[in-house]
Amino acid sequence: MSESLVFRGVRAIDPSCGLDGLVDVVVENGVITRVGIHAAAGAAGEHVRVFAVPGALLVPGLIDLHAHVREPGQEYKEDVASALRAAAAGGFVDICAMPNTRPVNDTRAITEMLVAKAKALGGCRLHPIAAITVGQKGETLTEMADLKDAGAVAVSDDGRCVTSSAVMRHALEYARTFDLPVIQHCEDHSLTAGAQMHEGSVATRLGLRGWPSVAEDIIVARDTLLAEYTGARYHVAHVSTRGAVRILREAKSRGIKVTAEVTPHHLLLTHEAVLGYDTACKVNPPLREPEDIAALREALADGTIDCIATDHAPHGAAEKDVEFAEAAPGMIGLELCVPLLLRLVRDGNLTYARFIDALTAAPAKVVGLPVPRIQEGARADLVLIDPDAHWTVDPSRLRSKSHNTPFLHQEVRGKVLATFASGVPIFEASP
Ligand code: DOR
Repeated sequence: MSESLVFRGVRAIDPSCGLDGLVDVVVENGVITRVGIHAAAGAAGEHVRVFAVPGALLVPGLIDLHAHVREPGQEYKEDVASALRAAAAGGFVDICAMPNTRPVNDTRAITEMLVAKAKALGGCRLHPIAAITVGQKGETLTEMADLKDAGAVAVSDDGRCVTSSAVMRHALEYARTFDLPVIQHCEDHSLTAGAQMHEGSVATRLGLRGWPSVAEDIIVARDTLLAEYTGARYHVAHVSTRGAVRILREAKSRGIKVTAEVTPHHLLLTHEAVLGYDTACKVNPPLREPEDIAALREALADGTIDCIATDHAPHGAAEKDVEFAEAAPGMIGLELCVPLLLRLVRDGNLTYARFIDALTAAPAKVVGLPVPRIQEGARADLVLIDPDAHWTVDPSRLRSKSHNTPFLHQEVRGKVLATFASGVPIFEASP
């Protein structure tokens, strides 16, 4: 029997049940047994842990659709164990692992290895995303039925775009047979060859080759047409442009089965962050313009962009402490997502309900995981957050093996205090 948990007088927010109020929440044997005002009256005893933090939020366990765990092959950057620790510290109870590992996850063996390893470690749960094409080469489709059977929740060639319209069409048709979502990294590579950052005024000033927004827009437009044509489930990874937002909005208004995610960094940073050649700000797709950020924020707020996903992309010093043109794209995100994005809620850009939905029910629906809920009878996947705690991002305290983020040493506001999977604490912040 696991210990019982009592959350006393927390602000519990679960948009999937229309819950937002000051309540008590009681957890027994890994299940939420009571939710309500004074629901925990009298709950005490040797095996009861009480959490009573004034001003704290209690939300369902977060789900990240987009994490690079780097195992197999690049364990010096991250591995399953460190990724799961970082995820739990960020409030995530489920993460989806992208397949651009070495070798690429295009086989049952790798998918099964990841599932088994994560299960053995316990804590945060891991769901592999397998490749769309063998070796992510954009040519031959993977054995999607086999990969789904082994535990894959979606397919993606993330890091690379499926460039051929014919291959993409067949991928959508094949994936639809198994009801697997296809997640596309939208980049017309013929327009981005040699690109280092967003094509615009900053790239011109820095003398770096640009990645034009239209390279993303073209693929989103083509793929939404293919999604409509095939009727398959199609999801856009890391949307970064106002053009893509416009296409998604139109596609959704016509009832096409398309969903999308946005990263914290694309919501918060513009291409100006690259001034000074800071390789921590080199990401793919690149940081864009203020008008793009405004469109992304509006689209997240109105649900055109369904989900927030971290694109947690750990890299070591060997890939980042180099000239900008040589640096690998990507930044870590699991541990900083909540504190960084609470700013959007405080500034009135996002309601709590939409913020939590974008990190829980919305991603659950994209990959077909159970929607985590704060209601009686639900599995107790929960996150306790102090939205007002100030702390400084100290690299020595990050759980991720890699520290490639431009937010190092910055003060942030909002802290994950504890994360629970089936009522078991998988992370507790040190005081
Ligand atoms: O910035 C990125 N990093 N974008 C991607 O699509 C891939 C990722 C990585 O694997 O490092």
